Parts: sequence; structure tokens; C-alpha cells
Amino acid sequence: MVSVIVGGHFGDEGKGKMVSYLAVKDEVDVVARAGVGPNAGHTVYHQGKEYGLRMIPCGFVNQKARLYIGAGVLVDAQRFLEEIELTDSGDRIRVDERCAIIEDKHRREDSSDNYLKEKVGTTGSGCGPANAERAHRTIKLAREIPELKPYLADVPLELNTALDKGENVLLEASQGFGLSLFYGTYPFVTSKDTTASMAAVDVGIGPTRVKEVIVIYKAYTTRVGEGPMYSLITEENIKDYPLWQEVLDEAKKQGIKGEDINDTLGKYLREWGTVTQRKRRVGAFDMELARYSSMINGATGICITCLDKIFPECSSVKEYDGLSSRVKSYVKEIEGGVGVKAVLLSTGPELDDVVDLRKN
Ligand code: GTP
Ligand code: IMP
Ligand code: MG
Repeated sequence: MVSVIVGGHFGDEGKGKMVSYLAVKDEVDVVARAGVGPNAGHTVYHQGKEYGLRMIPCGFVNQKARLYIGAGVLVDAQRFLEEIELTDSGDRIRVDERCAIIEDKHRREDSSDNYLKEKVGTTGSGCGPANAERAHRTIKLAREIPELKPYLADVPLELNTALDKGENVLLEASQGFGLSLFYGTYPFVTSKDTTASMAAVDVGIGPTRVKEVIVIYKAYTTRVGEGPMYSLITEENIKDYPLWQEVLDEAKKQGIKGEDINDTLGKYLREWGTVTQRKRRVGAFDMELARYSSMINGATGICITCLDKIFPECSSVKEYDGLSSRVKSYVKEIEGGVGVKAVLLSTGPELDDVVDLRKN
């Protein structure tokens, strides 16, 4: 069966961590990376090591899983080869021969073009200019790059054959719903759609084969780069959020001081980008966006991460009964607002800091 993991807010919801958990816990046979490309930064903590991955599926932590990168994903060849070394996954990773290749010219344009860099606030990874060139039909494909030869495959053929044999496939998307080129906060978006349907397209799996779509949200909302954020916490509105006043008080107690309230919260919650190191703005859980994104993604279940960051008492808790009553009601409120059951809760950055509700 196919399970798709997608982001429900603005990216950085913790997809990397949850994919690594599911890859190990569910003993999946295959993990396939979908999404835009190396603009993503997925963080995985495994056996005392931190990985910031931009190309290789985070499911690499399951040593037995075969790993794939779908044709819809832009490939930075040098970064791909470096991450193979880093994760020692050369013998089990394959990349579709039709992946488009990001070159220096794309990165240069992405970080020098005023509109992209200043107005949209891109990651500078070259993804937007590369997708534009793909639409122009002049971009180089993976099959033209000699260094990638040993890793090339027909990824849809391999994935669909695996499914025919009854194997389990985990699809790892990147970015988040609010960054979708079609459904996000245009023009402050990434260069492609970011929903579950697109993830299936990216790797060449038909919609009838997808059985499960898990939409991931952080327990609060963050956003890096430009663009609107309706639930942003500010000096003016924090009094309407008793929980956030409490978080701010705790930050101050620890001597954390930012340029303003939002910056203080960001520093306390350690919210800065994996790829760009840019600070992420912090907001309350954006319920409206979450509900809309679960609808368009066709969510079969939701996952809420980083609960421990605003409710320290649930840090590393692994059983539902071990959660405090305020965490339980917070989760219930989100389930009610979104209209979809929570199947996974994340209580820390380590792979197994998870309350898995699927067994109930
Ligand atoms: P994108 O593809 O860039 O959208 O990334 P992502 O969704 O994989 O998330 P990313 O790794 O960029 O950011 C999530 C951050 O939260 C990382 O630093 C994770 O280690 C961390 N994290 C994930 N889940 C939890 C959690 O439950 N608790 C805590 N404390 N940290 C978490
Ligand atoms: P681009 O994808 O680099 O073109 O950036 C477009 C917008 O999407 C910017 O606001 C980026 O900050 C944002 N973005 C792209 N990828 C990610 C991601 O993986 N996490 C969070 N934001 C992202
Ligand atoms: Mg990220």
C-alpha cells in the first residue's frame, strides 16, 4: 500500500522526523521522495547524529528500505552525491532518469533576482528558475549527467512493481500546503503544487493506489520567507492567547530576548531554517488553513508535531495516557477544527518520540 506524508501549513512541520519514524516502525520496503527539490531541509536525529537532508529520503534510517527520488523532484547532483556519502546509501538509492537538474545558473538567478530573492524570499536553491526552465523544455535531465549513471532508474516502474508484489511504499513530500503554487498564498509560494496528489504524480503512482494520506502540522504555525501569516503572534494580540503569554513568560524567565515578541518566541522555540538558517516567524495554530489543507490533501489522518515545545511536560512521552490533560484537550481541539482524527503525535526530535494512536 502507499502512504503519503505531506505538510499542512508552510513547510518545516517535521516531515523528515515523521518519515524516519514510519520507515522504521512500519518496516516499509520502499521510501520515495516527492516534492519540489533541494529547497527542502528535512531534519532527522538518528543514533545520536543530526542529519539535514535536502535530497535523500529521510526513510534512509531503515537500512533495509529501498530509496527512490521521483521524476518530479529537481535534483542538485552534487548535493545528491554528498548525501549518499553522508547516509551511506549508495547501494540502495535510485533516481529517476527524467529528473531535471539544477545548475549554477539556476542558483545564481534564484539568489540574485530581486523579485525572487527579496519579494518572494526564496531559499536560493535554484528550484524556481529550474522549474521555469523545465516548463520551457530546455533543462538537462538526470540521464545526461555521467556522475548519476550508476543511480538511474525508471522509478514509476519499480514502485508499481513493488506495489504489485504487496510491498509498502512511503511517499515523502516536501514543503507545505500554504506554499503550493496553485493553492497557497500566491505569489509567496514555491514553484510547484505541494499537495498529496502532486506527490503521487512526482513519483509516478496513480491516485487509485494511494491508501493513506497523513497531513502533518506543527502544534503551532511557522513560516520562513515572505508572505502573509494570519495567526502571527504580535505584541498587540498576545493577550488573546493565554497559552502564548505563558510560552513568552517562560522564554523571558530563561533570559531569551529577541528584537520583538515574535523573535523572542522564535529563539525560544529554536525556529530557524534547516537550509537557509533564516528565522521562522511564529504563529498560533492556523486552524482555517489546516482544515482547508486537509480537505484538498484528502487527509485520512493528521499528525501533530513539536507538542513538547509548547507543552514541556509531554517531552518524549510515548503513550497517550502519559500526556497531560491540557495536551489532550489541545489535540482534541485541533481534531475537531480540522475534522480529521490525529493518528500520530510527536513529542520530541528523536525518531521514537512519538505517541502512535494508530494502534488504538
Ligand atoms: P521541509 O521539507 O523543509 O518543509 O521540512 P520538514 O517538514 O522535514 O521539517 P524540518 O526538519 O525543516 O523542521 C522541523 C524541525 O522540528 C526539525 O528541527 C526537527 O528536528 C524538529 N522536530 C520535529 N518534530 C519535533 C518534535 O516533536 N519536537 C521537537 N522538539 N522537535 C521536533
Ligand atoms: P523556493 O521554493 O526556494 O522558490 O521558495 C519559495 C518560498 O517557499 C519561500 O517563501 C521559501 O521560504 C519557501 N520554502 C521553500 N521550501 C521550503 C521548505 O522546505 N520549508 C519552508 N519553506 C520553504
Ligand atoms: Mg525544513
